[in-house]
Amino acid sequence: MEKKKIIISPSILSADFANLEADIKKVEPYAPWLHIDVMDGHFVPNISIGVPVVKSIRKVTKLFLDTHLMIENPINYVEPFISAGSDLITFHYEACRDRVIETIEKIKSFNKMAGLSIKPKTSVDEIKQYINLVDLILVMSVEPGFGGQKFIEECTNKISQIRALNKDVIIQVDGGINDKTAKLCIEKGANSLVAGNYIYSANDIKKAISELDFNI
Ligand code: DX5
Ligand code: ZN
Repeated sequence: MEKKKIIISPSILSADFANLEADIKKVEPYAPWLHIDVMDGHFVPNISIGVPVVKSIRKVTKLFLDTHLMIENPINYVEPFISAGSDLITFHYEACRDRVIETIEKIKSFNKMAGLSIKPKTSVDEIKQYINLVDLILVMSVEPGFGGQKFIEECTNKISQIRALNKDVIIQVDGGINDKTAKLCIEKGANSLVAGNYIYSANDIKKAISELDFNI
C-alpha cells in the first residue's frame, strides 16, 4: 500500500524570537512547511507577530509559509500577508462567520492556498458548507492563543467527520501535538500536523520531527 505523507509544520511560536533565523534553520532540512502564528490580542488573548516578521522570514527561508491568522477581520490582512510571502493563509471561521466565502475568494484571487480553522468548541456541522471550497481545514486541538497546552482528545472526532465529507482536503491539527497525539490524529485521517513545543524543546529536532510522521 502506498504510504501517506504527513506534512509537518513546525510552529515558530516556540522558537526564540531573538534568534528566529537560526531556529528556522534548525527545522528547515526536516520539514516542508513553517507554521507562523499571528495573534491580535482580540480574537485570542495573546499578541505574537505580524506582517513585517513574515516579510523578514521570507528572505531567509524557502520553506512553505503556513500562516495561521488568529485575528479579527482576517480579510483585511490577506493581501498584506501574501505580499509579505505567505503561501497559505488559514483564518478562523469564528472570526468572520458572515464573510467566510468572501475571505476564501480573496485568498484564491492571489492564487494562494486557503485554509479554514475551527476552535475546539466549534462543530464540523457549522463549516460543512465550506469544506469543498478550501485547500485545508485546521482543527484546533487546544484553545488558540498559546503554545505548550494539553491536547484535547475529543477534537480528533472532528478529523474523521471532515475526512468522511472530503477525501482530498488537507486536514491539519494544531495544539498539543507530540509523538503520541500525532498518531491519534493520523489514524483519524489528518495529513498535516503543527507542533511547536514538542519540536523546539527536543534535544534532537530531526528525530522529533520524524517521530510525528507515522506514515500509516
Ligand atoms: C496555538 C497555536 C499553535 C501553537 C502550538 O494557538 O496556534 O500553532 O504554536 O503549540 P504546541 O505545539 O506547543 O501546542
Ligand atoms: Zn497555529
